[in-house]
Amino acid sequence: MRTPSEIDALFHTTYARNQIILERGKGCRLWDTSGKEYLDFFAGIATASLGHDHPAICETLAKQSAQLMHVSNLYYSLPQAELAAWFTKHSCADRAFFCNSGAEANEAAIKLTRKYSHAKHGSAIPIILTAQQSFHGRTLATLTATGQTKYQKGFEPLVAGFEHVPFNDIAALEETVQKLTQAGKSERVFAAILLEPLQGEGGVTPGQRDYFLAARQLCDKHGALLIFDEIQCGMGRSGKLWGYEKLGVEPDIFTSAKGLAGGFPIGAMVAKESVSVFQHGEHGSTFGGNPLACAVACTVAGIIGASSFLEQVEKKGTELQNGLTKLLTKFPNHLQGTRGWGLIQGLVLKEDSELTTSILSARALEHGLLLIGAGPKVVRLVPPLIISSAEIQEGLEILERILAQ
Ligand SMILES: Cc1ncc(COP(=O)(O)O)c(C=O)c1O
Repeated sequence: MRTPSEIDALFHTTYARNQIILERGKGCRLWDTSGKEYLDFFAGIATASLGHDHPAICETLAKQSAQLMHVSNLYYSLPQAELAAWFTKHSCADRAFFCNSGAEANEAAIKLTRKYSHAKHGSAIPIILTAQQSFHGRTLATLTATGQTKYQKGFEPLVAGFEHVPFNDIAALEETVQKLTQAGKSERVFAAILLEPLQGEGGVTPGQRDYFLAARQLCDKHGALLIFDEIQCGMGRSGKLWGYEKLGVEPDIFTSAKGLAGGFPIGAMVAKESVSVFQHGEHGSTFGGNPLACAVACTVAGIIGASSFLEQVEKKGTELQNGLTKLLTKFPNHLQGTRGWGLIQGLVLKEDSELTTSILSARALEHGLLLIGAGPKVVRLVPPLIISSAEIQEGLEILERILAQ
């Protein structure tokens, strides 16, 4: 069997991988090749929402792969139609485009926005405002949309047409929009605001309702589009199906991926009828919306979309948050606060503590708990949405032990 360092030598050095080889999973548990067991508080970065080896997913995969796996978008397929219909029934969107990842879904949203803006404003350069600390993907356009220079450094020139504003800061947003919409600036036009309802990678920071309302009003006033990136906080993770439901503000376009098919690759860009301006041949994807991915997503959506399931996510999220708050009182030297929605929770480490998320997640790994950071000072807790109360307590106990070390 190959060792982790032998495996490393086969790849571009894009990932700082943990030195274990994961072999199998069941529910919220994973096992490595040495047989060591891990409790999963990470879910493949908020993706394996129904955990590992979920019987309904396995059954759908087996059935659909035997029936039809790929046909191209030059034909219709029933799983794709069913998934698009699910989106129209369970969200504010009327039309769907399917692809294979989050970045691709955001690329599609950016292209749709540009098309819409050119139809409305002619050749003026469409400017999309995004938030500082946001994360929207690794392709060149989504990298530029991302409001964190650490992801952009070394990949210049970046793509034109993006400006970053502070997150949850209404005055700064209004000021930027005012500058963009001033008379005499006709070579550039305010085309859209793209936001995560809760910033995941950027530090598990929930959006504030007033800020999102202000963004909606500014877009309505200037004929711009409001786009939400629901890739990490959507598909039930917040305790609502969509993060925007937490805020009570509807977008014109939103994107989904990660948990949409519980770990099977898929992305979606969905939009209201009024902004769906793509014409034949203007966008596409070979694999996007293939029957296999869509069938799995339909199965996952059927489970997660049930109100009883979402109530459980809310309940488990409260249990997790209560446990984290207790840790806060026990370790005031290290911990500063907690924040999050449902089963996307952040434990904020004090700036002056020697602890970082890499130190904590390395210690957690030794103790059989898989954790991930959202930056150096926020531990991100994103377990499978099917996690039990007992597993939450078990994870919290391990966290307490490693904080006490
Ligand atoms: C909010 C958000 N948008 C976009 C992406 C990019 O998704 P993908 O890695 O599937 O391209 C991510 C991935 O972490 C994300 O969290």
